[in-house]
Amino acid sequence: MPARPKHTAAEFVPDTRDLDDLADAATGCKGCDLYLDATQTVFGGGSADAEMMLVGEQPGDQEDKAGAPFVGPAGKLLDKALVQAGIDRGRVYVTNAVKHFKFTLPERGKRRIHKTPGRTEVVSCRPWLLAELDAVRPEVLVLMGATAAQSMMGSAFRLTAHRGEALRLPEIDEITDLDVDPAVAVTVHPSSVLRGRPEDREEAFGALVSDLRFAAGLRSAAR
Ligand code: URA
Ligand code: SF4
Repeated sequence: MPARPKHTAAEFVPDTRDLDDLADAATGCKGCDLYLDATQTVFGGGSADAEMMLVGEQPGDQEDKAGAPFVGPAGKLLDKALVQAGIDRGRVYVTNAVKHFKFTLPERGKRRIHKTPGRTEVVSCRPWLLAELDAVRPEVLVLMGATAAQSMMGSAFRLTAHRGEALRLPEIDEITDLDVDPAVAVTVHPSSVLRGRPEDREEAFGALVSDLRFAAGLRSAAR
């Protein structure tokens, strides 16, 4: 693991495990520099007693403006994939590894371009993700894309090598201290389906759906 960043979200995370109180506190987070240029913190949302928690990368342009996760194109695709996998969107909790939109502005007045968050930002923001995990205590945790997967599983984790596997969280202090032990599944990020070549989209979408269906099968009721 790389050295810890000097600043992290930890000092902004209150002791409560009430999701509304956590979300309120997150509005004032200055745990890394991403709060400077983004519109607002985009905290997770969904059912507090969800059996499944889904983690993406970071809010996109539309999420940054709306203040809610997965409401833009990637969110629409995720909604469709959840329906096809037989998962009720009303019964999941959806969040991101990083809570502020990171972007570049190629020229004044031009569209903001998504920029992948770096390891420092991911590690800085992880206390929020761990607090959400502790609050929701899902049976299944679905990590979508390399950023979410590496946030929870470590920077050496290779997503493509572990799709379709029933995983567990690593035994590191920040996680074992929480005393949560969800089944973990990894899949691609929904945006990667949109970014792929048009002729590959159907297959990539089908693979996302089957990963989600596999994840749903890890719930204890389904075991
Ligand atoms: N991509 C993400 O990872 N999260 C969102 O909320 C939207 C797009
Ligand atoms: Fe805080 Fe995360 Fe936003 Fe950085 S990205 S300021 S750690 S909420």
